Amino acid sequence: MAGRIRTKIVGTGSYLPEKVLTNADLEKKVDTSDKWIITRTGIRERRMAARSQATSDLGYEAAVQALESAGMKARDLDLILVATCTPDALMPSTACYLQSRLGARKAAAMDLNAACTGFVYGITVADSMIRAGAAKNCLLVGAEILTRFINWNDRGTCILFADGAGAVVMAPTGLGRSEVLTTHLYADGRQAGLLCIPALGSRKPATPAVLEKGLNTVHMKGNETFKLAVKGMAQAAQQAFKATGLSRDDLSLFIPHQANIRIIEATAKRLKIPMSKVMVNIDRYGNTSAATIPIALDEAVLRGRIKRGDLVLLGAFGAGFTWGSALLRW
Ligand code: COA
Repeated sequence: MAGRIRTKIVGTGSYLPEKVLTNADLEKKVDTSDKWIITRTGIRERRMAARSQATSDLGYEAAVQALESAGMKARDLDLILVATCTPDALMPSTACYLQSRLGARKAAAMDLNAACTGFVYGITVADSMIRAGAAKNCLLVGAEILTRFINWNDRGTCILFADGAGAVVMAPTGLGRSEVLTTHLYADGRQAGLLCIPALGSRKPATPAVLEKGLNTVHMKGNETFKLAVKGMAQAAQQAFKATGLSRDDLSLFIPHQANIRIIEATAKRLKIPMSKVMVNIDRYGNTSAATIPIALDEAVLRGRIKRGDLVLLGAFGAGFTWGSALLRW
Protein backbone atom coordinates (compact mmCIF):
# COMPACT_ATOMS: atom_id res chain seq x y z
CA MET A 1 0.00 0.00 0.00
CA ALA A 2 3.06 2.27 -0.33
CA GLY A 3 2.19 5.75 -1.52
CA ARG A 4 -1.33 5.69 -0.13
CA ILE A 5 -2.39 9.11 1.11
CA ARG A 6 -2.85 9.56 4.85
CA THR A 7 -3.48 12.70 6.88
CA LYS A 8 -1.20 14.43 9.33
CA ILE A 9 -1.73 17.31 11.74
CA VAL A 10 1.04 19.72 10.73
CA GLY A 11 0.24 22.71 12.96
CA THR A 12 -1.73 23.66 16.07
CA GLY A 13 -2.92 26.93 17.63
CA SER A 14 -5.32 28.24 20.23
CA TYR A 15 -6.82 31.44 21.56
CA LEU A 16 -8.54 32.27 24.84
CA PRO A 17 -10.20 35.65 25.36
CA GLU A 18 -8.52 37.88 27.94
CA LYS A 19 -11.44 38.32 30.31
CA VAL A 20 -11.37 35.79 33.16
CA LEU A 21 -14.62 34.85 34.90
CA THR A 22 -13.87 33.23 38.25
CA ASN A 23 -16.12 31.15 40.47
CA ALA A 24 -16.13 34.12 42.86
CA ASP A 25 -17.60 36.24 40.03
CA LEU A 26 -20.36 33.64 39.55
CA GLU A 27 -21.10 33.57 43.28
CA LYS A 28 -22.28 37.16 42.79
CA LYS A 29 -24.68 36.16 39.97
CA VAL A 30 -26.28 32.90 41.16
CA ASP A 31 -26.73 30.80 44.30
CA THR A 32 -23.51 28.79 44.05
CA SER A 33 -20.10 28.55 45.69
CA ASP A 34 -16.50 28.24 44.62
CA LYS A 35 -16.29 25.00 46.61
CA TRP A 36 -19.36 23.46 44.95
CA ILE A 37 -18.15 24.33 41.47
CA ILE A 38 -14.63 22.99 42.06
CA THR A 39 -15.72 19.73 43.68
CA ARG A 40 -18.64 19.00 41.29
CA THR A 41 -17.01 20.18 38.03
CA GLY A 42 -13.28 20.86 38.50
CA ILE A 43 -13.67 24.38 37.08
CA ARG A 44 -11.93 27.29 38.83
CA GLU A 45 -12.25 29.93 36.14
CA ARG A 46 -13.20 30.32 32.49
CA ARG A 47 -12.82 32.93 29.72
CA MET A 48 -15.41 35.26 28.26
CA ALA A 49 -15.20 36.94 24.85
CA ALA A 50 -15.31 40.74 24.60
CA ARG A 51 -18.58 42.22 23.33
CA SER A 52 -16.83 43.22 20.10
CA GLN A 53 -15.69 39.66 19.34
CA ALA A 54 -17.59 37.11 17.26
CA THR A 55 -16.84 33.39 17.09
CA SER A 56 -14.85 33.80 13.86
CA ASP A 57 -12.63 36.39 15.59
CA LEU A 58 -11.63 33.81 18.22
CA GLY A 59 -11.13 31.26 15.47
CA TYR A 60 -8.98 33.72 13.52
CA GLU A 61 -6.45 34.12 16.35
CA ALA A 62 -6.16 30.33 16.74
CA ALA A 63 -5.93 29.85 12.97
CA VAL A 64 -3.09 32.36 12.57
CA GLN A 65 -1.05 30.43 15.16
CA ALA A 66 -1.85 27.06 13.60
CA LEU A 67 -0.79 28.30 10.15
CA GLU A 68 2.41 29.72 11.58
CA SER A 69 3.27 26.48 13.36
CA ALA A 70 2.55 24.60 10.11
CA GLY A 71 4.80 26.98 8.15
CA MET A 72 1.90 27.72 5.82
CA LYS A 73 0.17 30.81 4.47
CA ALA A 74 -3.59 31.29 4.32
CA ARG A 75 -3.37 31.18 0.51
CA ASP A 76 -2.08 27.58 0.76
CA LEU A 77 -5.39 26.41 2.23
CA ASP A 78 -7.99 24.74 0.07
CA LEU A 79 -10.47 23.87 2.81
CA ILE A 80 -11.62 25.65 5.98
CA LEU A 81 -13.87 23.79 8.41
CA VAL A 82 -15.23 25.47 11.51
CA ALA A 83 -16.74 23.24 14.17
CA THR A 84 -19.12 25.38 16.20
CA CYS A 85 -22.59 25.42 17.72
CA THR A 86 -22.39 29.17 18.42
CA PRO A 87 -21.80 30.60 14.91
CA ASP A 88 -21.37 34.27 14.03
CA ALA A 89 -24.77 34.11 12.28
CA LEU A 90 -27.18 31.50 10.91
CA MET A 91 -25.79 32.34 7.50
CA PRO A 92 -23.30 32.65 6.03
CA SER A 93 -21.08 30.16 7.79
CA THR A 94 -18.54 31.22 10.40
CA ALA A 95 -15.99 29.55 8.11
CA CYS A 96 -16.76 32.14 5.41
CA TYR A 97 -16.21 35.04 7.83
CA LEU A 98 -12.94 33.38 8.83
CA GLN A 99 -11.91 32.77 5.22
CA SER A 100 -12.39 36.47 4.52
CA ARG A 101 -10.34 37.63 7.54
CA LEU A 102 -7.54 35.21 6.70
CA GLY A 103 -7.60 36.10 3.01
CA ALA A 104 -7.69 32.39 2.19
CA ARG A 105 -9.14 32.98 -1.27
CA LYS A 106 -8.52 29.47 -2.63
CA ALA A 107 -10.22 27.70 0.28
CA ALA A 108 -13.71 26.25 0.28
CA ALA A 109 -15.36 27.01 3.60
CA MET A 110 -18.10 25.48 5.70
CA ASP A 111 -19.28 24.98 9.26
CA LEU A 112 -19.92 21.71 10.97
CA ASN A 113 -22.20 21.40 13.99
CA ALA A 114 -21.84 18.35 16.20
CA ALA A 115 -21.81 20.51 19.37
CA CYS A 116 -19.01 19.43 21.74
CA THR A 117 -18.08 16.54 19.41
CA GLY A 118 -17.59 18.98 16.53
CA PHE A 119 -13.81 18.88 16.48
CA VAL A 120 -13.69 15.06 16.31
CA TYR A 121 -16.33 15.12 13.57
CA GLY A 122 -14.21 17.77 11.82
CA ILE A 123 -11.05 15.67 11.98
CA THR A 124 -12.99 12.84 10.39
CA VAL A 125 -14.33 15.01 7.55
CA ALA A 126 -10.95 16.65 6.88
CA ASP A 127 -9.13 13.30 7.02
CA SER A 128 -11.66 11.70 4.65
CA MET A 129 -11.47 14.58 2.15
CA ILE A 130 -7.68 14.68 2.21
CA ARG A 131 -7.36 10.90 1.76
CA ALA A 132 -9.89 11.01 -1.09
CA GLY A 133 -7.86 13.74 -2.80
CA ALA A 134 -10.73 16.25 -2.51
CA ALA A 135 -8.67 18.62 -0.36
CA LYS A 136 -5.01 19.10 0.41
CA ASN A 137 -4.32 21.67 3.07
CA CYS A 138 -7.19 21.91 5.53
CA LEU A 139 -7.67 24.33 8.40
CA LEU A 140 -9.93 22.87 11.07
CA VAL A 141 -11.06 25.24 13.79
CA GLY A 142 -13.15 24.59 16.90
CA ALA A 143 -14.49 27.95 18.11
CA GLU A 144 -17.30 28.94 20.45
CA ILE A 145 -18.80 31.89 22.28
CA LEU A 146 -21.15 30.01 24.58
CA THR A 147 -21.48 32.88 27.05
CA ARG A 148 -23.84 34.58 24.54
CA PHE A 149 -26.27 31.63 24.89
CA ILE A 150 -26.28 31.18 28.66
CA ASN A 151 -29.06 31.83 31.13
CA TRP A 152 -27.13 33.59 33.88
CA ASN A 153 -29.86 32.64 36.36
CA ASP A 154 -29.44 28.89 35.74
CA ARG A 155 -26.73 27.69 38.11
CA GLY A 156 -26.74 24.24 36.52
CA THR A 157 -25.33 25.60 33.24
CA CYS A 158 -23.88 29.10 33.68
CA ILE A 159 -20.97 27.76 35.73
CA LEU A 160 -19.91 25.31 33.01
CA PHE A 161 -19.82 26.92 29.59
CA ALA A 162 -17.24 29.37 28.25
CA ASP A 163 -15.50 30.84 25.21
CA GLY A 164 -12.36 29.94 23.27
CA ALA A 165 -10.92 28.56 20.05
CA GLY A 166 -8.40 25.98 18.90
CA ALA A 167 -7.16 25.12 15.43
CA VAL A 168 -5.16 22.56 13.52
CA VAL A 169 -3.80 22.44 9.98
CA MET A 170 -4.12 19.04 8.36
CA ALA A 171 -2.25 17.92 5.25
CA PRO A 172 -1.44 14.76 3.27
CA THR A 173 1.42 12.55 4.37
CA GLY A 174 2.88 9.19 3.35
CA LEU A 175 1.80 5.96 5.02
CA GLY A 176 3.72 5.13 8.19
CA ARG A 177 4.45 8.78 9.10
CA SER A 178 2.57 10.83 11.70
CA GLU A 179 -1.04 10.29 10.81
CA VAL A 180 -4.70 10.08 11.73
CA LEU A 181 -4.98 6.34 12.37
CA THR A 182 -8.71 5.91 12.85
CA THR A 183 -11.85 7.88 13.72
CA HIS A 184 -15.25 6.74 14.99
CA LEU A 185 -18.40 8.84 15.09
CA TYR A 186 -21.78 8.25 16.70
CA ALA A 187 -25.07 10.07 17.24
CA ASP A 188 -28.41 9.48 18.94
CA GLY A 189 -30.89 12.19 18.00
CA ARG A 190 -33.53 10.72 20.32
CA GLN A 191 -31.66 12.48 23.14
CA ALA A 192 -31.78 15.93 21.53
CA GLY A 193 -33.93 17.40 24.31
CA LEU A 194 -31.44 16.63 27.08
CA LEU A 195 -28.98 19.29 25.95
CA CYS A 196 -30.07 22.01 23.54
CA ILE A 197 -30.69 25.65 22.74
CA PRO A 198 -34.40 25.23 21.89
CA ALA A 199 -34.97 28.48 19.97
CA LEU A 200 -33.38 30.75 17.31
CA GLY A 201 -33.71 28.21 14.48
CA SER A 202 -36.67 27.37 12.24
CA ARG A 203 -38.30 25.22 14.92
CA LYS A 204 -38.78 28.15 17.30
CA PRO A 205 -37.93 31.50 15.75
CA ALA A 206 -36.87 34.28 18.10
CA THR A 207 -40.20 35.89 19.05
CA PRO A 208 -40.49 38.10 22.14
CA ALA A 209 -42.30 35.24 23.96
CA VAL A 210 -39.51 32.79 23.14
CA LEU A 211 -36.86 35.21 24.36
CA GLU A 212 -38.90 35.96 27.50
CA LYS A 213 -38.81 32.23 28.36
CA GLY A 214 -35.05 32.11 27.80
CA LEU A 215 -35.36 29.48 25.08
CA ASN A 216 -32.43 31.13 23.31
CA THR A 217 -30.10 29.73 25.99
CA VAL A 218 -28.56 26.34 26.81
CA HIS A 219 -30.97 23.91 28.48
CA MET A 220 -29.45 20.78 29.98
CA LYS A 221 -30.42 17.78 32.06
CA GLY A 222 -27.02 17.52 33.74
CA ASN A 223 -27.36 14.15 35.39
CA GLU A 224 -28.52 12.19 32.34
CA THR A 225 -25.92 13.96 30.18
CA PHE A 226 -23.20 13.06 32.65
CA LYS A 227 -23.88 9.31 32.56
CA LEU A 228 -24.19 9.08 28.79
CA ALA A 229 -21.03 11.18 28.31
CA VAL A 230 -18.92 8.68 30.26
CA LYS A 231 -20.46 5.71 28.47
CA GLY A 232 -20.16 7.29 25.01
CA MET A 233 -16.57 8.51 25.28
CA ALA A 234 -15.40 5.17 26.68
CA GLN A 235 -17.21 3.22 23.95
CA ALA A 236 -15.77 5.40 21.16
CA ALA A 237 -12.26 5.03 22.60
CA GLN A 238 -12.60 1.27 22.81
CA GLN A 239 -13.63 1.20 19.13
CA ALA A 240 -10.45 3.11 18.23
CA PHE A 241 -8.30 0.52 19.99
CA LYS A 242 -10.26 -2.35 18.45
CA ALA A 243 -9.95 -0.96 14.92
CA THR A 244 -6.17 -0.54 15.15
CA GLY A 245 -5.20 -3.49 17.37
CA LEU A 246 -3.52 -0.99 19.69
CA SER A 247 -4.22 -0.78 23.41
CA ARG A 248 -4.27 1.72 26.24
CA ASP A 249 -0.73 0.53 27.11
CA ASP A 250 0.48 1.97 23.79
CA LEU A 251 -1.11 5.32 24.57
CA SER A 252 0.95 8.43 25.40
CA LEU A 253 -1.88 10.89 25.99
CA PHE A 254 -5.67 10.90 26.17
CA ILE A 255 -7.25 14.28 25.37
CA PRO A 256 -10.92 14.11 26.35
CA HIS A 257 -13.54 16.79 25.85
CA GLN A 258 -13.40 19.04 28.91
CA ALA A 259 -16.96 19.07 30.27
CA ASN A 260 -16.53 18.04 33.89
CA ILE A 261 -13.49 16.65 35.75
CA ARG A 262 -15.68 13.87 37.15
CA ILE A 263 -16.71 12.83 33.61
CA ILE A 264 -13.04 12.82 32.59
CA GLU A 265 -11.99 10.76 35.63
CA ALA A 266 -14.84 8.27 35.25
CA THR A 267 -14.06 7.81 31.54
CA ALA A 268 -10.34 7.29 32.22
CA LYS A 269 -11.20 4.80 34.96
CA ARG A 270 -13.49 2.85 32.64
CA LEU A 271 -10.70 2.72 30.04
CA LYS A 272 -8.08 1.93 32.71
CA ILE A 273 -6.00 4.92 31.58
CA PRO A 274 -4.08 6.53 34.49
CA MET A 275 -4.82 10.23 35.03
CA SER A 276 -1.09 10.93 34.49
CA LYS A 277 -1.80 10.19 30.79
CA VAL A 278 -4.88 12.42 30.61
CA MET A 279 -4.80 16.05 29.48
CA VAL A 280 -6.84 18.28 31.80
CA ASN A 281 -7.27 22.06 31.57
CA ILE A 282 -10.94 22.38 32.53
CA ASP A 283 -9.86 24.10 35.76
CA ARG A 284 -8.77 27.16 33.71
CA TYR A 285 -11.11 27.20 30.73
CA GLY A 286 -14.37 25.38 31.59
CA ASN A 287 -16.38 23.79 28.78
CA THR A 288 -15.73 25.56 25.48
CA SER A 289 -17.63 22.88 23.52
CA ALA A 290 -16.01 22.19 20.11
CA ALA A 291 -12.95 24.18 21.18
CA THR A 292 -11.89 22.15 24.24
CA ILE A 293 -9.96 19.45 22.39
CA PRO A 294 -7.96 21.67 20.00
CA ILE A 295 -7.14 24.06 22.87
CA ALA A 296 -5.91 21.14 25.00
CA LEU A 297 -4.06 19.63 22.03
CA ASP A 298 -2.21 22.88 21.36
CA GLU A 299 -1.32 23.20 25.04
CA ALA A 300 -0.05 19.60 25.12
CA VAL A 301 2.14 20.24 22.05
CA LEU A 302 3.53 23.53 23.42
CA ARG A 303 4.30 21.96 26.81
CA GLY A 304 6.10 19.00 25.23
CA ARG A 305 3.51 16.50 26.45
CA ILE A 306 3.25 15.15 22.89
CA LYS A 307 6.36 14.06 21.02
CA ARG A 308 6.92 12.60 17.62
CA GLY A 309 5.76 8.99 17.40
CA ASP A 310 3.40 9.29 20.40
CA LEU A 311 -0.03 7.70 20.27
CA VAL A 312 -2.70 10.30 21.11
CA LEU A 313 -6.38 9.58 21.68
CA LEU A 314 -9.08 12.24 21.34
CA GLY A 315 -12.55 11.58 22.77
CA ALA A 316 -15.64 13.78 22.78
CA PHE A 317 -19.30 13.84 23.70
CA GLY A 318 -21.90 16.54 23.13
CA ALA A 319 -25.42 17.67 22.32
CA GLY A 320 -27.33 15.56 19.85
CA PHE A 321 -26.23 13.40 21.50
CA THR A 322 -23.07 12.99 19.45
CA TRP A 323 -19.85 11.30 20.45
CA GLY A 324 -16.67 10.03 18.87
CA SER A 325 -12.96 9.32 18.99
CA ALA A 326 -9.84 9.86 16.92
CA LEU A 327 -6.56 8.03 17.35
CA LEU A 328 -3.46 9.85 16.10
CA ARG A 329 0.16 8.83 15.63
CA TRP A 330 2.03 12.09 16.22
N1 COA B 1 -24.10 25.47 42.72
C1 COA B 1 -24.65 24.91 43.79
N2 COA B 1 -25.54 23.91 43.72
C2 COA B 1 -25.88 23.48 42.51
C3 COA B 1 -25.34 24.03 41.32
C4 COA B 1 -24.42 25.07 41.47
N3 COA B 1 -23.84 25.66 40.42
N4 COA B 1 -25.87 23.39 40.27
C5 COA B 1 -26.70 22.46 40.75
N5 COA B 1 -26.73 22.52 42.10
C6 COA B 1 -27.50 21.73 43.04
C7 COA B 1 -28.77 21.20 42.42
O1 COA B 1 -29.81 22.17 42.46
C8 COA B 1 -29.06 20.03 43.31
O2 COA B 1 -29.67 20.51 44.50
P1 COA B 1 -30.87 19.69 45.20
O3 COA B 1 -30.25 18.38 45.57
O4 COA B 1 -31.21 20.56 46.33
O5 COA B 1 -31.91 19.58 44.14
C9 COA B 1 -27.68 19.52 43.66
O6 COA B 1 -26.77 20.60 43.43
C10 COA B 1 -27.27 18.32 42.86
O7 COA B 1 -27.60 18.59 41.50
P2 COA B 1 -27.16 17.64 40.33
O8 COA B 1 -27.67 18.19 39.04
O9 COA B 1 -27.49 16.23 40.69
O10 COA B 1 -25.58 17.87 40.43
P3 COA B 1 -24.47 17.09 39.69
O11 COA B 1 -23.53 16.54 40.66
O12 COA B 1 -25.03 16.19 38.63
O13 COA B 1 -23.72 18.27 38.95
C11 COA B 1 -23.54 19.17 36.76
C12 COA B 1 -24.40 19.06 38.00
C13 COA B 1 -24.30 20.01 35.75
C14 COA B 1 -22.25 19.84 37.12
C15 COA B 1 -23.27 17.76 36.22
O14 COA B 1 -24.47 17.04 36.15
C16 COA B 1 -22.62 17.74 34.89
O15 COA B 1 -21.50 18.16 34.73
N6 COA B 1 -23.30 17.19 33.87
C17 COA B 1 -22.79 17.01 32.56
C18 COA B 1 -22.54 18.32 31.93
C19 COA B 1 -21.95 18.17 30.59
O16 COA B 1 -21.07 17.41 30.40
N7 COA B 1 -22.48 18.93 29.67
C20 COA B 1 -21.97 19.06 28.39
C21 COA B 1 -21.79 17.80 27.69
S1 COA B 1 -20.85 18.19 26.35
